[in-house]
Amino acid sequence: MIDSTLPDSMNFTIKVLDWYDRHGRKNLPWHAQKDPYRIWVSEIMLQQTQVETVIPFYQDFMCRFPDIVSLAEADLDEVMTHWAGLGYYSRARNLHQAARKICREHGGCFPQTLDEVMNLPGIGRSTAGAILAFSGDARHPILDGNVKRVLSRYHAVEGTPGKRETEKRLWALADRHTPEVRVAEYTQAIMDLGALVCRVRNPLCRECPVASGCLAHAQDRVASFPVPGNVRIRGHLHKPPNPHTTWILPL
Ligand code: ADE
Repeated sequence: MIDSTLPDSMNFTIKVLDWYDRHGRKNLPWHAQKDPYRIWVSEIMLQQTQVETVIPFYQDFMCRFPDIVSLAEADLDEVMTHWAGLGYYSRARNLHQAARKICREHGGCFPQTLDEVMNLPGIGRSTAGAILAFSGDARHPILDGNVKRVLSRYHAVEGTPGKRETEKRLWALADRHTPEVRVAEYTQAIMDLGALVCRVRNPLCRECPVASGCLAHAQDRVASFPVPGNVRIRGHLHKPPNPHTTWILPL
């Protein structure tokens, strides 16, 4: 349902939700219950790792640590054993520390406000927003890497993500597109759109529900967004050769 009297931000949202109804990921194991603990664990696992890889690790983790108390009471070594293979081990250490903090400071109940959630080790604003949106349908924008790419392209945001001004602009755009209802579905929808359609390489613009309003697409510059930053190698500034290059630099 596209309504020309609605602001473009709402038409974007309606199209993304409509696409999600037809193509988005449903029935993921962490969707089954709206338990913030389970959603938190899944979101941390998903931060650097793809959905298909996460699922067996998530299921194993939930069998051994079914709730916050069981995680908090476990030895870190055992938590690390269940994380082995997922990589980025600081995520597991933070998860364990945060579970202990929740038991100490929140009586073992996952906190409900954005500030309290962001005060837990390993949880930034976007992950905190996603947990509260998925578990309680609370209206919080999210801005992970996938969402940054969608919004940078849709609005042809010229600044480099990571720069304060650009981040501010992207958060404002993320907020503008976040609906008042169906927040959990919208949150999954915009993540899925970034992961499955508005991909880093070979974006599938012909399948994109918002291609007609996408400024990068209109300018035939999709590959130019998000704008890569300069990197410094041995004192010289270099432009990465393409926006997808991962730079691993000597310290
Ligand atoms: N990456 C981070 N959170 C995700 C989620 N809920 N679904 C898919 N990819 C994600």
